[in-house]
Amino acid sequence: MTNTTPSLDTPGVHTLPGNGDLTRIVLSNTQSVGELYLHGAHMTRWQPRDSEPVLWLSDSAVFTAGKAIRGGVPLCWPWFGPHPADASAKAHGFARLNEWRVGGVEQQREHTRVTLHLTSSPATLDLWPHDFALALEITAGPTLAVALTTHNTGADPFTITEALHTYLTVADIGQVSIEGLHGARYIDQTRSGAVLTQDGPTVTFIEETDRVYQTTAACTVIDPVLGRRIHVAKSGSGSTVVWNPWIEKAARLADFGDDEWPGIVCIEAANAFDAAITIAPGDSHTIRTEISVYPL
Ligand code: BG6
Repeated sequence: MTNTTPSLDTPGVHTLPGNGDLTRIVLSNTQSVGELYLHGAHMTRWQPRDSEPVLWLSDSAVFTAGKAIRGGVPLCWPWFGPHPADASAKAHGFARLNEWRVGGVEQQREHTRVTLHLTSSPATLDLWPHDFALALEITAGPTLAVALTTHNTGADPFTITEALHTYLTVADIGQVSIEGLHGARYIDQTRSGAVLTQDGPTVTFIEETDRVYQTTAACTVIDPVLGRRIHVAKSGSGSTVVWNPWIEKAARLADFGDDEWPGIVCIEAANAFDAAITIAPGDSHTIRTEISVYPL
């Protein structure tokens, strides 16, 4: 795969060896800078030129084949969370564990667009018995847009759950609030999957939070310490996951620093649980998220 990447380089796109010798693509334009790995089609860094980093990446992240990078935008696909039937299967599917190939690069003054592909193979068919073609389009400019399209290239319908598992940098989770989820029903994964309703205009954080909201709406992270709002828009998505591991879960995760949990919140455009997507042969589905940053 890596032997095809050097020809992609343009003035704003550079292919470089990354951590763990994985292939890294560095993007820059007049509006923002970013980087992604072909491993997992994983966007690991992005920030507008006048802003602090927006994506969070753990100092303890592991960069190696077969392991997901902790931070950035992991792709959860074709299942979100544990495999529905096989406890031995890896959480969040295999899209984030495989090397993708670059389909195209477009460099404009104000944005950079990279398209990556992953298609079914004997290895993926062992894990999930369906033929597919995935396309991920990343557009980094004044905003960051990530769009994952699933094509069913097989002869039978299949059903997926998925998430664009976006780790956002915040200054202090205890002072952060999320707007836009008022009145939405959610599955609380820290309370044995209890179904609750968001009561009040903001979500705040006082403990481990792991909720799958049933909503198609955008939401906004308010960070009074950094003095900014991060707006997370989406389409093709019936769920939004809000996650912070808090103290004990962060300590249990080997690739998550024990002291890093106050500095992140995950806002994930998803299709999980009842929002699972069934795709007929020949059809496709796109889930998209777009992140914008504004001063408070
Ligand atoms: C979130 C899930 O999407 O991802 C959490 O809701 C999970 O339950 C988290 O802990 C991180 O998952 P992983 O597999 O990357 O450690």
